[in-house]
Amino acid sequence: SHRIMLGPLVAAIDQGTSSTRFLVFNSKTAELLSHHQVEIKQSFPKEGWVEEDPKEILQSVYECMERTCEKLTQLNIDISNIKAIGVTNQRETTLVWDKETGEPLYNAIGKYVDLCTTSYVFVLVWLDLRTQSTVENLINKTPGRNKNHLKHKTGLPISTYFSAVKLRWLMDNVKEVHEAVVSHRAMFGTVDSWLIWCLTGGKSGGVHCTDVTNASRTMLFNIHTMDWDAELCKYFGIPMEILPRVRSSSEIYGLMKSGALSGIPISGCLGDQSAALVGQMCFQDGQAKNTYGTGCFLLRNTGAKPVMSEHGLLTTVAYKLGRDKPACYALEGSVAIAGAVVRWLQDNLGIIGSSEELEKLAASVGTSYGCYFVPAFSGLYAPYWEPSARGIICGLTQFTNKRHLAFAALEAVCFQTREILDAMNQDSGIPLTQLQVDGGMTSNKLLMQLQADILCIPVVKPSMPETTALGAAMAAGAAEGVSVWSLNPDDLSEVTSEKFEPQINPEESEFRYARWKRAVQKSMNWET
Ligand code: G3P
Repeated sequence: SHRIMLGPLVAAIDQGTSSTRFLVFNSKTAELLSHHQVEIKQSFPKEGWVEEDPKEILQSVYECMERTCEKLTQLNIDISNIKAIGVTNQRETTLVWDKETGEPLYNAIGKYVDLCTTSYVFVLVWLDLRTQSTVENLINKTPGRNKNHLKHKTGLPISTYFSAVKLRWLMDNVKEVHEAVVSHRAMFGTVDSWLIWCLTGGKSGGVHCTDVTNASRTMLFNIHTMDWDAELCKYFGIPMEILPRVRSSSEIYGLMKSGALSGIPISGCLGDQSAALVGQMCFQDGQAKNTYGTGCFLLRNTGAKPVMSEHGLLTTVAYKLGRDKPACYALEGSVAIAGAVVRWLQDNLGIIGSSEELEKLAASVGTSYGCYFVPAFSGLYAPYWEPSARGIICGLTQFTNKRHLAFAALEAVCFQTREILDAMNQDSGIPLTQLQVDGGMTSNKLLMQLQADILCIPVVKPSMPETTALGAAMAAGAAEGVSVWSLNPDDLSEVTSEKFEPQINPEESEFRYARWKRAVQKSMNWET
């Protein structure tokens, strides 16, 4: 058979909260040649708890790799053209494993086993709220009960969201974790570290590392010195020896140890939101993107300087594309629940059978008819940082039906984006004139139109929506020793895009937004 001649190919593992993907790009054209996707099970064993199985996550990566290689072979594309692999991942999700057995250590012991019958190994997902009391205790210890006490070093408020408190919880509550830590057998990592360690050989020589973007979400990392911080580790009581080595986002970390891609370097690593920023080519100070995944994350590049927010945004490392390259920072507005609300309507309420149905249902009425839905399932993130907030649906009448609820759910995603965009504009003083978007939910045209209407600025979506994976592939392909992808903006191919212009008048938009804000206040005062 004829083999198609192509330039060098670069692959990306995109391990998100809801699914894992493996994608292969042509490094010359950035064209997506083939991919495979596997859904990830999430369990909610108790109110506020969110778990996934690290072994299932790893398995899904192998499965996606195998299937994609099969598809390439069917397309007559030689997989030996794949020159590098990048990793991008759900951030903050916290794992501890035993470096001698290679087993993740939160073995869901005792009562948790009974609650989670499907599997015995779990991980604390970023959305998990079980650390709420750990967080309250930590905040109580700070002068003036100030949740921003560590912000000058980390760029982050003390919150359930970040890894350090999850790690503290595991060390305090899981005997195996505690024992492995004291006997020097424990390794901590976010999903990137877990995957890279396993893929490069695991207990027989796996590389224990992370990149600066993932490290910047742990609360143990000093974003100015760009290294783990002894004082922060002491504050959380975390021994530094269990931490992975911090590397740049683009360098060879190690080689694939097994499978069809054995021997190929893993040479890119970025938290998913940073990867999307790179994939959208937001390399200039002031450029921004919003990604609609399980949550929704708006990042604005602030160049070489970390800018501290006055309006509830996070300061985070955007990327460092090479060992000797400078770090770039970003301001980030994080929304916990976006796509997750669709899954909730499907799995918990059963009013839709698929995400496509949601668009149809909502479009059939075109209004929420005064119904507002604040999906504060995991508390509220930016700009409020209120872990005790809970979801509410308000403004119901006898006229309200599931169509209005579907519409309100989509509007909720747009209003939350408006809140973080407003905060971003206030912090930077230069309002964005259009919003670059990507992620699974952007295939929902109604959502995109609503978003433009609620922001009163155009929304621009690239025609190749896999920007997160693209960013990771670019970082991997550009690494020293691989060098098949140029990150010079002049050499990068123009992204073609689709634009949604605002269509409703701004007064109406403001009226609805004001109502939304009242609903948010109610969700926050829920328990008092
Ligand atoms: O901070 C969490 C984020 O990285 C998760 O991304 O795409 O799963 O919503 P996503």
